[in-house]
Amino acid sequence: QLFWLHGPRPGGPVEHHAASGMWNVYGFPELHEVLGDPATFSSDVLRVTPEEQKPQGFSLDGFITQIDPPEHGKLRKLVSSAFTRKVVADLEPRIAAVTHELLDAARERGGFELVRDLAYPLPVIVIAELLGVPSSDRELFKQWADTLFRQDTKVSFDELFDRREQDRETTMKSWREMSDYLAGHAAERRRQPRADLLTKLVEAEVDGEHLPDEQVVNFAIVLLLAGHVTTTMLLGNTVLALDAFPEQQDRARADRAAIPAIIEESLRFFTPFALLARATTREAELGGVTIPADQTVLTWIGAANRDPRQFADPDVFDPRRDPNPHLAFGRGIHFCLGAPLARLEGRVALNILLDRFDRLRTDPEDPVVFMPMPTMTGVRRLPLV
Ligand code: HEM
Repeated sequence: QLFWLHGPRPGGPVEHHAASGMWNVYGFPELHEVLGDPATFSSDVLRVTPEEQKPQGFSLDGFITQIDPPEHGKLRKLVSSAFTRKVVADLEPRIAAVTHELLDAARERGGFELVRDLAYPLPVIVIAELLGVPSSDRELFKQWADTLFRQDTKVSFDELFDRREQDRETTMKSWREMSDYLAGHAAERRRQPRADLLTKLVEAEVDGEHLPDEQVVNFAIVLLLAGHVTTTMLLGNTVLALDAFPEQQDRARADRAAIPAIIEESLRFFTPFALLARATTREAELGGVTIPADQTVLTWIGAANRDPRQFADPDVFDPRRDPNPHLAFGRGIHFCLGAPLARLEGRVALNILLDRFDRLRTDPEDPVVFMPMPTMTGVRRLPLV
């Protein structure tokens, strides 16, 4: 179920999808080119979205993933000044403490379902605490994320496009609720600064300029969503890999220094966020195909991460790949700002899981449940014994 969009496609590395009119890119070199050329392949996909399909009633101003240079560089500098490597590195003891608390609570309850008990709550608590919003509101974040990523339904690739229309209403409602919630917190920080990331964002200044409120809120939304759904998948996928490939679990137990490479291979093998979108600003030649201007280009990083032209034996889970230039965190100017945090959470959580459990093993009596969306590679339920 996880693999249907991974690996080379029969139609070649660049394919036109007739039903949607969009262009799919699956090949590693082609994708490398797309992500490295924001002048031709813009992140502002709304520029090619028909008017009636555009989001209504709210602005995407400050939604960093959608912005092109030169505005992107300015915003990235501003938010990077608040979300630094040091801010992330300093979180290590807190990530360890929360992991232990969550595992203690799971032991008290009895039965261990990795996603419910650890992989979901850990990244949400960490990002909520970092931003400075109550982590006790995490059920709310989950509801919003579930609606925005439409995890509740099983859809095929073609249905994905048909369903867009009917899903718009609920998506927008969730979006508005989430914006109002974060705007309330941001306004409070302006009145009364605290030692949190939201305050840092409100106060951030580059070349004498601050972020407008709307941009603070939209950046916080990106962090809250990007910061937990993907990391939940990374943790679940890596534990799944350690169960599926027991020799890797033995290696990690014998030498904890092997863990970072296992995480990188998990990101390549089970790319959590398998799809990114771009829009052509001009005609482009890609993989021998001509893509006209103003087209939507879907870049399947999960497929590129299994391109045999780049990765030998791509369907083998091999943490010894060195280098492992996977595209799971994207590439170029939009390279994931949260990659150090996701890697840190993965390393800390895995170390603790290996410390506390003699064996990480899925429960043969209780099946694993995968995400229903083709664009998200991950488990939503992973019972362990
Ligand atoms: C961007 C994946 C965790 C924040 C991206 C992009 C990818 C990605 C593929 C590039 C988007 C594009 O080029 O259009 C992942 C994965 C994660 C993860 C697989 C976990 C395993 C996080 C975390 C945070 C975060 C923990 C924050 C707390 C961001 C932000 C951007 C981004 C702010 C936008 C950067 C920009 O546009 O300049 N992420 N992410 N991500 N990610 Fe992550």
